[in-house]
Amino acid sequence: MRPVIITANWKMNTSPADAGPLAVEIAKATEVAGVSRIICPPYVALAPVKAALAGTDVAVGAQNVHAEAKGAYTGEISASMLVGLASWCIVGHSERRRDQFESDALIGQKIVRLVEAGIMPMLCCGEQLEEREAGAAVRTVQAQVKAALEVVLAQGGSLPDDLVIAYEPVWAIGTGKTASGADAAEMADAIRATLADLAGAAFAEATPVLYGGSVTADSFAEFMAEPAVDGALIGGASLKADQMSAIAATAAEAAAARAMG
Ligand code: PGA
Repeated sequence: MRPVIITANWKMNTSPADAGPLAVEIAKATEVAGVSRIICPPYVALAPVKAALAGTDVAVGAQNVHAEAKGAYTGEISASMLVGLASWCIVGHSERRRDQFESDALIGQKIVRLVEAGIMPMLCCGEQLEEREAGAAVRTVQAQVKAALEVVLAQGGSLPDDLVIAYEPVWAIGTGKTASGADAAEMADAIRATLADLAGAAFAEATPVLYGGSVTADSFAEFMAEPAVDGALIGGASLKADQMSAIAATAAEAAAARAMG
C-alpha cells in the first residue's frame, strides 16, 4: 500500500528566525495517524527547521539542488551539502522550469545527484493551460516524466524506490484554480503507465503520486477521494497551520479508509 503524503512547499517565504517556530506549529497541527509529512523551507531555513522538528516524525525537504556534484557554481547548493539537513528534495518545480529554464534532462541529472547522496527525490511535472486546452496534457506530462527518468536510468541503472511524483498543472499553481479530482486521477494513472514502461508495473504501483496546485483545506478532499492520488504538494496554504491541520485531518481519513481496503 502506498503512503499518504502531505508536503509543504514554503517557496521563498519565511526567515531563519521564524521558520523553526512555524514548523513546530505545523507539526503540532498536523499530528495525525497514517500520514507522512514533509516540510520544505528555503535553504537558509533548513538547519533551524531540522533542529526545531527534532523528536517529531516530520521530514525536512529542500526545494532544489544543483545538477553537478561540486565545483565552480557560485551561489549553488549540491546534493551532498544537503545531507543531514534534508531527507527529501523537490526537483523540477514549474517555477524553476519557468524562471531558471530547467529542462527535463537537467532535472533528471539532479535526481542522479540526489540518489548518490541518499536524498529522496520528489519530481514535479505538469502541463501549461494551452497544453490542456489542446488536449495534450497527458502527453506533455508523460514526456516530462519519461525524459527526466531516462537520464537516471541511463546513468544509474534503476529508479530510486523512494521516488515520489507531484503532478502540478501549471495553471493551477498559486491561482486559486484546481484541477478536478478526476483529472488528477487520470493523470496519476497516466504517470504510472509511464513508470511501468520505464521500470515495471510493480514499481509504478508502489510510487506515490501527489497532486499540487492551489490545494487548500476546502479543495483537498476531492483529491483524496481518488485512490490513484496519494496526497498533496501544498504551496500557499502550507504556511498556515489551520489550513495544514484540516488538510492533515482529511489525509488521515483517507489513509484510514485505504488501510481498511
Ligand atoms: P500552491 O503551490 O499550493 O500555492 O498553488 C503549489 C506548488 O507550487 O507546489
